[in-house]
Amino acid sequence: AHERTLAILKPDCVRKDLIGEVLRRIQEAGFSVCALKMVNMTKAEAEGFYAVHEGKPFFDELTDFMSSGPCVPVVLEKDNAIADFRELIGATNPEEADDGTIRSDFADSIGENIVHGSDSVENGLKEAGYFFPEHEIVANKA
Ligand code: CMP
Repeated sequence: AHERTLAILKPDCVRKDLIGEVLRRIQEAGFSVCALKMVNMTKAEAEGFYAVHEGKPFFDELTDFMSSGPCVPVVLEKDNAIADFRELIGATNPEEADDGTIRSDFADSIGENIVHGSDSVENGLKEAGYFFPEHEIVANKA
């Protein structure tokens, strides 16, 4: 089915000047870019986005990192977008990510892992709405 996922090119991706390279791989894999912007989240905004992880041991480190500099949220659409995007980026821990995946090629650690992708259809819609009102999400090649 045609699905929507929310990707975030994380602050490490921006700092390493990898925005273009990562977007190129995403587009080459057949995803349509339907919304995109650069934002510097506050700590509170990062805590809101990752509220599902509140209470986990890495929550403070995660939200510090995600508010440490600009990042690039991107709404992507494609058939089977959720699963296909997770395959493209590889496992959360780059040491476990398959060769040729974005995290395997560029990520330093489980925390600084270059890119986020939604883990379900429901969360894809919810996460896209965290950054973009519906009228800013365009039908690009849909
Ligand atoms: P992401 O897909 O953005 O969703 C939650 C993030 O938490 C995950 O990617 C990791 O970057 C981060 N994360 C998960 N486990 C750990 C951990 N053990 N230590 C630090 N960060 C983690």
